Amino acid sequence: MLQRSVLHCRPNLTLLSTHLTTSRSHLRCLSSSSSPPPPPSSTVSVVPPPQTLNAPTPKSFSTPLEAALHKQIQTLGPLPLPTYTSLCMTHPTFGYYTTSNPLASDLNKGDFVTSPGLSQAFGETLAAWACYNLKEFRYVEYGPGDGTLCSDFLRTMSQLNRRPSECYLIDESPILIREQHRTLGVTLDSYIHSKDDIPTQSIVVQTGLAKDGRTRVTWLKDLPPVNVKVPELIVCHEFLDALPAHVFQFKGGRWRERMVDINWEGEEEVKVEVNSQAYTGVKKQDLTEISKSSNLRLVLSQTPTPALKTLLKTDGKGISKLVPGKENEVIEIQPEALSLIQEFSTRISVNRGLALLIDYVGKGDTTRAFSDHEQVEVLERPGECDITVSCDYDQYEKEVEGKGAVCWRRGQGEFLVECGMGNRVQSLIESDDTTVEEANKIYAGFEKIVEDMKTFEVMVIGGESNIQGVKRGTPIGFK
Ligand SMILES: C[S@@+](CC[C@H](N)C(=O)[O-])C[C@H]1O[C@@H](n2cnc3c(N)ncnc32)[C@H](O)[C@@H]1O
Repeated sequence: MLQRSVLHCRPNLTLLSTHLTTSRSHLRCLSSSSSPPPPPSSTVSVVPPPQTLNAPTPKSFSTPLEAALHKQIQTLGPLPLPTYTSLCMTHPTFGYYTTSNPLASDLNKGDFVTSPGLSQAFGETLAAWACYNLKEFRYVEYGPGDGTLCSDFLRTMSQLNRRPSECYLIDESPILIREQHRTLGVTLDSYIHSKDDIPTQSIVVQTGLAKDGRTRVTWLKDLPPVNVKVPELIVCHEFLDALPAHVFQFKGGRWRERMVDINWEGEEEVKVEVNSQAYTGVKKQDLTEISKSSNLRLVLSQTPTPALKTLLKTDGKGISKLVPGKENEVIEIQPEALSLIQEFSTRISVNRGLALLIDYVGKGDTTRAFSDHEQVEVLERPGECDITVSCDYDQYEKEVEGKGAVCWRRGQGEFLVECGMGNRVQSLIESDDTTVEEANKIYAGFEKIVEDMKTFEVMVIGGESNIQGVKRGTPIGFK
């Protein structure tokens, strides 16, 4: 049972007790104890000819999206992983986020749980940090999930007698957007479906007042037009990891791209023209699929793909001057994430705001899938499992350079403790309204977030003077 006294002083992370029952980490993140799937031991590289080989007649498709993908690959050839991942995540009819609410506030429900669901003190601490660092701001959040973080932000701001000048949420999932309405208590008063209906570049989907009756929350498809007079706080919590990554592997002295292919049967060696790309097969006995399900498999491209040529700048032989490559080295690149970082940096240099990114970080072979709090194969039940990648903050940092902004990084646990999360947790635990059971839960959430989620890092992007302020930290009094 939790001893309330544990948090009576400013929490010392090394003192966090281990006597709480720490359930196995079912977090969507992989904590240091769980590692990404091991790199494939050998290569595969057949991209078969739809015109000469017969796809096996699948006994059954695991999901409707798998059937659709199977058909698409038969017609167009293998798909780069980002195309597969995007379809799995946000396909309008069969996508993971578009058809389900995977978030849970409890480790026994949903597919994963995130920090806002583990502790209200997480969002409260971030809100206090933001209010300290920006005098006024509009709140812009990407991928707000069930809306808990935004709700905790708005509540805390109101307790500090503050309110964002505007509040914009950007999400692809109609189901989660409905959850966000519910969590924020928004009564919608307007739906605008067409770009022509409004004089801005962004498409407003919905708008309405939050339960405080004063904060207007607007759902957009893209960032709102820049307002040079009002700084903005852009929040991405466990959002960038959901954006697809190209996966490149150095094999046989050259760079190749991982593609999603049909689990073909038939001839031993094949050559095929797909979208003007020539792919040559290898002998069947040499094949070891990187990964496969009954109907799909991951293979390596035989010739440089457009992504290899543009992102790694490979020549016709798959050699890159940018990244020389070592046998079996794997590099993941998220073009959408990188372009968002560029956009955030440019906007912030104009409106004097901050971008607050929090995610799990990593490099190499990190693409993985989750279902029901367990790691599963990336090809398993397309559209029903979460596919995610560790964010490469070093790559992100390079995108900030030269855009009039700088960035600052910190481990999540240190950052939150320095911002006073321990003090907030302590006061929640000591509140007369808190039962012992609730106190245990509050403490366990805190411990999980600051102690266990070691791969999580905070990245703040801002103008030079704002970042100097961020580096100085939050005064104790404010905590
Ligand atoms: C892992 S959840 C994180 C939710 C929330 N930030 C949290 O931490 O609890 C990812 C969120 O991003 C949204 N999302 C995923 N891909 C997206 C995309 N391409 N564009 C916009 N939103 C997306 C999902 O609908 C979901 O709300």
